[in-house]
Amino acid sequence: MIYLMPMKLLKLKLFFTIASIIFACFLITSFVYSGRVLVAVPTKQNQGRNLENSPPEVVIVKPSSNDRFFWNTIIQYSIRVSDKEDGKSEYDEINAKEVLLEVCYLPDAASAKIYIDKKKTSKENTGLTMIRRADCFTCHASKSKLIGPSLEMIAKKYQRTESSIERLTKNVINGSTGTWGNIAMPAHKALQADDVRQMVKWILSNAAIPNSTFYPGMESAFKTGTKPVNGSAKMVMVLTASYTDHGEKNSMQHTRYGQYAVSLKPAN
Ligand code: HEC
Repeated sequence: MIYLMPMKLLKLKLFFTIASIIFACFLITSFVYSGRVLVAVPTKQNQGRNLENSPPEVVIVKPSSNDRFFWNTIIQYSIRVSDKEDGKSEYDEINAKEVLLEVCYLPDAASAKIYIDKKKTSKENTGLTMIRRADCFTCHASKSKLIGPSLEMIAKKYQRTESSIERLTKNVINGSTGTWGNIAMPAHKALQADDVRQMVKWILSNAAIPNSTFYPGMESAFKTGTKPVNGSAKMVMVLTASYTDHGEKNSMQHTRYGQYAVSLKPAN
């Protein structure tokens, strides 16, 4: 004889079966979903921060490449920088002293093009990036004496040997006085010796290169050179503005370098 369940009990059993199936489905779905959320979010963020640091966009607003320049004359310049992570110079989000203008004179348009193309493919030297970020340009100009000796004077005084690199590194970290006059260079205890060593190496290798002068600042002025005795009317002045962004947490990893060049012909 078949045992017949009372209708009420059967309904109750059916109800619990369906309810537990729905509950199981809910558990599985929420587990899979939460798993996906937990995994997906950090991956996206990591990509944004580490791998996709956008390069800064640098533009020389003034002068323009159609302008002609006069020898031995003050030229006003203006640079604009925009970086996805660091911000925009028009909103004062870019530190002006980290923006550099390099001025260089070349014999003709063809050599200016080679010079600009070579620069486009090169990466900035880490020593120079660290000089931008430290306070060095407050007291040291590239080619003229400011509060401290010019970087060119330093590069001419010391050979690039291990002993002079070590000596200068110590002097930048501990401060120095008496070598160049009575004005003292303050100590830079917060800087790491390895970083200062790279800055010193950059100074000793590059600061005495004739015909290349760096000016810090976004809106400033510089004086053009005196017309070379054997300089021809074909000579070109190349202005290269550059900025190195801060990447993640100001580290030197994943920084991106942006630059922009204009070449100007002489008016006389
Ligand atoms: C507040 C001004 C000031 C700042 C900032 C400054 N310097 Fe100097 N620096 C000087 C002065 C002044 C001297 C000359 C000191 C002397 O006569 O011994 C000097 C000298 C030097 C020398 C030559 C030292 C020697 O023994 O001949 C080097 C190299 C140098 N500075 C690098 C740097 C670097 C790199 C920075 C940035 C991290 C920097 N300076 C920041 C003022 C400054």
